[in-house]
Amino acid sequence: MAERWLVTGGTGQVGQALRRLELPGVEIVAPSRAELDLAALPDLDLLFAGFSAVISSGAYTAVDKAESEPFLARAINSSGPARLAAAARRAGIPIVHVSTDYVFPADGQGPWREDAMVAPASAYGRTKAEGEGAVRSSGARHAIVRTAWVVSADGANFVKTMLRLGAEREVLRVVADQRGCPTHAGDLAEVLAAVTRRLVSDPDQASGIWHCTNSGETTWHGLAEHVFACAAAHGLKVPSRVEAITTAEYPTPARRPADSRLDCSKLERDFGITMRPWQDAVAEIVGELAQRDAQ
Ligand SMILES: NC(=O)c1ccc[n+]([C@@H]2O[C@H](COP(=O)([O-])OP(=O)(O)OC[C@H]3O[C@@H](n4cnc5c(N)ncnc54)[C@H](OP(=O)(O)O)[C@@H]3O)[C@@H](O)[C@H]2O)c1
Repeated sequence: MAERWLVTGGTGQVGQALRRLELPGVEIVAPSRAELDLAALPDLDLLFAGFSAVISSGAYTAVDKAESEPFLARAINSSGPARLAAAARRAGIPIVHVSTDYVFPADGQGPWREDAMVAPASAYGRTKAEGEGAVRSSGARHAIVRTAWVVSADGANFVKTMLRLGAEREVLRVVADQRGCPTHAGDLAEVLAAVTRRLVSDPDQASGIWHCTNSGETTWHGLAEHVFACAAAHGLKVPSRVEAITTAEYPTPARRPADSRLDCSKLERDFGITMRPWQDAVAEIVGELAQRDAQ
């Protein structure tokens, strides 16, 4: 009989990518927010009875809006995972919790290692850091997988926003002083599955934090330029100019890290996973979207 993994945030970018994976011997059960609301979780003991792992990918991800809704963000990003982890401990199953580069400070220097001190500069980052803390102190066997700049052909993300704006405008202005690395939701989903499998199958696998992005680095401006180079190759309309601007020229309610590059060498060391370059991952997404567009 197939083992069952519970995935929260099943309608999100990462949740959808997890649902699409073909995992022999595993059934992914991914309830929607309406079916399992992280801000109002039901009694989880009964629910967890039939599961061998939980992947906690659901989150309040509206980074700027979280500044004006910190209580809701905290309920979803901190209290929700705390309850999931406590129930996972009682059920004796591991929890794989997805977290973010935005736990790191606005002005520090990456690439960040897993043991670097967190100091979030935004409400979103603070609530995600609290969620991490709750999972770590729950007593459940756990893996916290921090990722960054998640992109895919589904849902809302920077690649899709650029393609939409690029089709409408001749000139775009994009922030060029925030460094990081994009992550293909599908690549991340495969890593989450590998980590979950290990925790389920190897009782000696220690709990911990791992960083996971595609390899390399760029800025939002560099990412936009690559998106448009790929889009042009597919015959899509692109802007004639992408201007590089500073964060100060594009004020947002939430402060973001100027350097949120994550050092992913621990993932490679412990799980033998090497991530492909972000350029290849983004090219694949643009290709998929161009194909959809042509249909
Ligand atoms: N997106 C990024 O750039 C990024 C970067 C670093 C880390 N992460 C982390 O990666 C994980 C997955 O993110 P993503 O990119 O897949 O985000 P996403 O596309 O915004 O999806 C978020 C998911 O969480 C669900 N959700 C929101 N509020 C909920 C609630 N109250 N109860 C249950 N589910 C709720 C959403 O449901 P609805 O569809 O109903 O809204 C959606 O399924 C999150 O933990 C996020 O913090 C994301």
